[in-house]
Amino acid sequence: MAGELDEYGMVLNLSDVKHVIKREVTSQLDFSYLNEVWPEFAYTLPTTEYLAKVIWDRLAPYLPLVKIQLFEHPELWADYLGNAMEAYLTISTHFSAAHRLASPRLSYEENCEIYGKCARPHGHGHNYHLEVTVKGVIDPRTGMLADLAQLQAVIDDTVVEPFDHTFLNKDIPYFAEVVPTAENIAVHIRDLLHEPIRQLGASLHKVKLIESPNNSAEVYGLVSSTSENAAAVALPQLATV
Ligand code: NI
Repeated sequence: MAGELDEYGMVLNLSDVKHVIKREVTSQLDFSYLNEVWPEFAYTLPTTEYLAKVIWDRLAPYLPLVKIQLFEHPELWADYLGNAMEAYLTISTHFSAAHRLASPRLSYEENCEIYGKCARPHGHGHNYHLEVTVKGVIDPRTGMLADLAQLQAVIDDTVVEPFDHTFLNKDIPYFAEVVPTAENIAVHIRDLLHEPIRQLGASLHKVKLIESPNNSAEVYGLVSSTSENAAAVALPQLATV
């Protein structure tokens, strides 16, 4: 929700908000069989993304909504921003890999100057957490913006399985020349996933790669399949790796 701060320092009175959410949503859904609890689900199945949309519709008359974020479990969630049948679905996953930050075109001294400890010759490892967000239009019958099993399979087959337990610099050909910083890994994952996700009828919205508790990178989807040179936005939160 969003709004101006009032004289009491609040956007909204939190107990009023909780009361509305309980009255309009949670008390009705809790311990219910979703397919039968609301008439919205008689035709369109209650997927996470469609449930988020319907919760928005039911709360919007009472609350200044900006976004509904609904977690099916900690590794799958939907975001709905109030735009007709458009929604976002995020799958969270992880892989473990080693890398060395050093350009083959620079001397060891130059690489140490730029990349610090990350340039040490034999590499080091990370447990990478990956969040892939796709955007699409909810199908009015299935309630899905993309087939979840196929989406999961694309991410597993294209990224997780090939990257897991590798030395990125040596095992992934792309990183023979490109230094595998978190930003560059995120860009490469974006480029690998763009077309397979498009073939599922959705579009890749965002790749977030969390390399360590200290740093992560976010890259947004290509504008269209033809704009190979569309700008990538990488947002390292902290440069120390
Ligand atoms: Ni590192």
